[in-house]
Amino acid sequence: MPSSQDFAAFERRLADDAAATQAMLDRLLGEAAEAGEIHRPARLVAAMRHAALGGGKRLRPFLMIETARMFGVENDGVVRAAAGLELLHCYSLVHDDLPAMDDDDLRRGRPTVHKAFDEATAILAGDALLTLAFDVMAAPATHANAEIRADLTLRLARAAGLGGMAGGQALDLAAEAADAPLSHAEIARLQAMKTGALILFAVEAGAILGQADAAARAALSRYGAVIGEAFQIADDILDAEGDEAALGKRAGKDAERNKATFVSVLGLEGARRRLSDLVAEAQAALDDLGPQAATGVLRATARFIAERRN
Ligand code: IPE
Ligand code: IPE
Ligand code: MG
Ligand code: MG
Ligand code: MG
Repeated sequence: MPSSQDFAAFERRLADDAAATQAMLDRLLGEAAEAGEIHRPARLVAAMRHAALGGGKRLRPFLMIETARMFGVENDGVVRAAAGLELLHCYSLVHDDLPAMDDDDLRRGRPTVHKAFDEATAILAGDALLTLAFDVMAAPATHANAEIRADLTLRLARAAGLGGMAGGQALDLAAEAADAPLSHAEIARLQAMKTGALILFAVEAGAILGQADAAARAALSRYGAVIGEAFQIADDILDAEGDEAALGKRAGKDAERNKATFVSVLGLEGARRRLSDLVAEAQAALDDLGPQAATGVLRATARFIAERRN
């Protein structure tokens, strides 16, 4: 179990890593064209900046940075890779909010991109954020070793695409209109894809950047998968509980739209029990790293994911 010092360290690191990620995103989303680009249209840059710079917990970058830090690796390249993942996450939110998908008008306490700009601009801002994420991951400034960059890029593609986040989003939308409710196993798979895959990638990428050995990587992959599931269950519970001011996004919409969630199959109490089981599983996965590993921050993170209010 995490100690109170672990929580204090967690809060400090979360704030510091978010600030580092924010500064990197600001640099990556500059107005001026980069080498190899022709021109950056100002309105599209503004929409991408709206999507990427206006808040957010920065949990995925945090997980990547802190996992690498456990192995003594902290540098600008890690922050670049972490910001690359956040760009991809921001794209997923822009598209998730579109009228054709969840049709939301509030995100991170501000109008969604299609409300602040227009729908075509939101689609294109998402496209360009997604593409920029891969640009960042593949660029030499992210890591001197081309094999590591290729590994990260390929894993990100698998986590984000057809068999990962985008595929999960397709299943999520299909479930809204399904005749019969999804089974527990089907919901678990859907959520592992739409949300779990990017969170797992964050942890695995941190382990790769930290050059962790195979046993540590296996333990961290278990941890990443478990907290990924916990993260979406917490999101679903928060949606059902409905504190929109804390969330900065509309609540109560999952039930309204007939979304397949653990709250819909297990009820609120069942979902809460599943969440606390997952936090215990996350701690057990970290135990496998051995007593010498500095796991305090990641232990506190698992608790934070379950107890967060936004
Ligand atoms: C929201 O993700 C979308 C889900 C995958 C549930 P976050 O809760 O991480 O959103 P931000 O980045 O903090 O706004
Ligand atoms: C979104 O899940 C997962 C993504 C891939 C963006 P939700 O649709 O539940 O996320 P929120 O509640 O709108 O943030
Ligand atoms: Mg959605
Ligand atoms: Mg949504
Ligand atoms: Mg949600």
